[in-house]
Amino acid sequence: MEAAWLDPQATLTATVPQGEYTRTFGRIHAVAADAAGRPAHGKAAGMAGSAGTAAASGVAGGSGAGVGVPALNLVAGMHAYRDALLRELTAICDSGQYILGERVARFEAALADYCGARHALGVSSGTDALLLAMMTLGIGPGDEVIVPTFTFFASGGCVARLGAKPVFCDIDESTFNIDVARIEPLITPRTRAIMPVHLYGQLADMPGVRAVAKRHSLRIIEDAAQAIGARLAASDRRGAGAFGDLNCLSFYPTKNLGAIGDAGMLLTDDDALFERARLLRTHGESPKYYHHMIGGNFRIDALQAAILHVKLPHLEDWTARRREVAARYRTLFAQAELPAGAVRLPVERCGSHVYHQFVLRVERRDALLRHLAERKIGCGVYYPVPLHVQKCFAYLGGKLGDCPVAERIASEVLALPMYPELTEVQQQAVVAAIAEFFRE
Ligand SMILES: Cc1ncc(COP(=O)(O)O)c(C=O)c1O
Repeated sequence: MEAAWLDPQATLTATVPQGEYTRTFGRIHAVAADAAGRPAHGKAAGMAGSAGTAAASGVAGGSGAGVGVPALNLVAGMHAYRDALLRELTAICDSGQYILGERVARFEAALADYCGARHALGVSSGTDALLLAMMTLGIGPGDEVIVPTFTFFASGGCVARLGAKPVFCDIDESTFNIDVARIEPLITPRTRAIMPVHLYGQLADMPGVRAVAKRHSLRIIEDAAQAIGARLAASDRRGAGAFGDLNCLSFYPTKNLGAIGDAGMLLTDDDALFERARLLRTHGESPKYYHHMIGGNFRIDALQAAILHVKLPHLEDWTARRREVAARYRTLFAQAELPAGAVRLPVERCGSHVYHQFVLRVERRDALLRHLAERKIGCGVYYPVPLHVQKCFAYLGGKLGDCPVAERIASEVLALPMYPELTEVQQQAVVAAIAEFFRE
């Protein structure tokens, strides 16, 4: 029999419907920003001011009538770079160079430097970066890649798309990342690579993964989609995107460094792998119309590269603010004096967490989700179903009980609103709504 949480309705009906997010979103924006994305006068805190207060009073009154707190706000910080972005847009329109070109090369160089990798290759999405990484290593039918079962679909999906077998590994309970101690028993003569994922912005145990990979001569494909800027030590030059043989970033708009469409990056220190990936990015051709291998169209638009290049210098500041938001949640939860064990806060264990998400563990997660949805507090569940029990992977024979930690965590995780512009008043509203749930 299937567990209740494998039914999409179980969690989805408990989540704020998409339309609701959009509406909440719209109202918050109207308060927080003018048409140019600048904070409305006197309201930098004003999301803060009106929206936050309304949310707080809605929560306090238990009426659910407050404006709420959106899970995301992609335009709140735009005033910091909007003029530069519009200048780039105009220049690109006038240039006629819309795909690849010098703006892409400039961003690739800046990003390689930021991550501490030797080469960076701009691609069409994080998913395509993963696919291209595996194509570059020649992974295909008969090969196996070890992937954490608790991750976004693309991590495992890309392995299967190439005809290889994703071998799903359970996770560490405290970090939600691949449990290094469980990797070795999964290794077979067919294993080609390990794919650590830095979930929610916290690094996987990369020294541990590297040690296992070295012992068994395996490649590492790093899925760093959620963790740009995370470093093992603050002073390290190398960070997420520079730990494996081939390393993948996503610039999906909600990511800590987000484009205004799809974009991604493949990074490596290896000259030969870089050259191969570069050819595969454009159908394996060099020169034009002479094809050395069968690649794909994995090109990045000049527009996305230019936007990301404009945003990159702000990333350290945004990350610092995300960390401040996380610290404030911790203080507010401590002050809320919830019943012992009611919520478990994220554990920082591996280097500097960049808080792509701030994720709680809550035993009565779906009931709390419903409670927060009624109060228009935007929360998310990333991810309700681990990959080993996804329907599309049934052919691999995975079943409930194979990865017990991930199965439990999938039923407990709850991501709270998290973005650099989130105000203290909004956070108070979020925590007050959660405290109210545990008082009921
Ligand atoms: C862990 C992880 N891997 C891969 C991806 C795929 O990135 P994209 O959405 O840019 O294709 C994402 C982003 O959604 C992700 O979070």
